[in-house]
Amino acid sequence: MGSVFYFPTRLIFSTDAAEDLVQELSNISSPKVALLTDQGILSTGMADSFVKKLDAAGVPAEVFSNIPGNPNIQDVLPAFETAQKAGSTHIVALGGGSVIDTAKAVGILLGNPGLDWEDLQWGRSKIEKPALPVIAIPTTAGTGSESTHVTVIGDHTGFKRGVVHPEVFAKIAILDGSLTLSLPAKLTASTGMDVLVHSIEAYLGKRANPMTDMFALGAIRAAVRWLPEATHNGKNLEARKAMTEAATIGGIAMDQAGLGLAHAIAGPVANTYHLHHGLTVAVLLPPTLAFGAPSITPERWQPLREALRLPENSQPKDFSPWATKFVAGLGLPTRLSEVGLQKADIPTLAENTTRMAMFGNNVRQATAEDCVKLLEEYL
Ligand SMILES: [Fe+2]
Repeated sequence: MGSVFYFPTRLIFSTDAAEDLVQELSNISSPKVALLTDQGILSTGMADSFVKKLDAAGVPAEVFSNIPGNPNIQDVLPAFETAQKAGSTHIVALGGGSVIDTAKAVGILLGNPGLDWEDLQWGRSKIEKPALPVIAIPTTAGTGSESTHVTVIGDHTGFKRGVVHPEVFAKIAILDGSLTLSLPAKLTASTGMDVLVHSIEAYLGKRANPMTDMFALGAIRAAVRWLPEATHNGKNLEARKAMTEAATIGGIAMDQAGLGLAHAIAGPVANTYHLHHGLTVAVLLPPTLAFGAPSITPERWQPLREALRLPENSQPKDFSPWATKFVAGLGLPTRLSEVGLQKADIPTLAENTTRMAMFGNNVRQATAEDCVKLLEEYL
């Protein structure tokens, strides 16, 4: 099959997410909300302000806040049970990728009673009925989970295997950059780099098509322009708004066109050293671009070069040094040893990289030996 573009999520570019949430629910008779969030968001009082607004509008909301980072199925089930008991009609996800992925899984489970998540992960059963609608309200600008049809939940052993299905798409995503104003600089930088790497890898990947190109280039342009500002001047609402929107736009590109070698290597590396996903793809961007550069054609390079704001005479070989400078400018590490990578682990990491789904989508096909070489070079 050729490449496909399908995106059913209603996007609301918002300046007041709570108000827009109430507005959306006012079109529905007797809505009941399960509001999923995490402890961090709960402690800021943000979840409370949403509940108050819903309350004032006469919409009952049951809050579930016990969602850890990188959730496994045993973290999802209590959220599912809470929403089921409350008779929820809508799942609202207020948080980052982990919260949104959990909400998407809960929506699937509520719409398909009796479905076993692990059976679904391993292809032993299928999603047959519509999911309960999920309204995603991202509080970080990074994963793009609000605009993808995949949810990555670990099985009971913690092994991560994504479930991909059109029913996994959020029904609505409300994008309000003001919700990210208090993110610390380091987290802003690393989640923002995830946006940039999604978009670069989607643009360069083998499954790119004219629609995904528009989204990928748009998100690259925005991240290049606004990520340094959002990182170093976190109170700049314009920068926050642009990065929140870029995360969603880049998420669309990645969801439809796939990812590449930085994400393929990031899986085993982040797992082995328990690293933040965005930080891992950031440090892996320069080495994987150095490897991919010889396969970037002049036709593909030209629009990318413009989006990156590189001079007209620059070439694909200049891309990796540019990325090193960009990452360093955000205060993030640019050598793999700085995030704890050990030389002795490289052969195993390279071998595990070849088993990642996105490994085959990279602009230049790598082998395990290529991965060993590039990891050693950037150690
Ligand atoms: Fe990512």
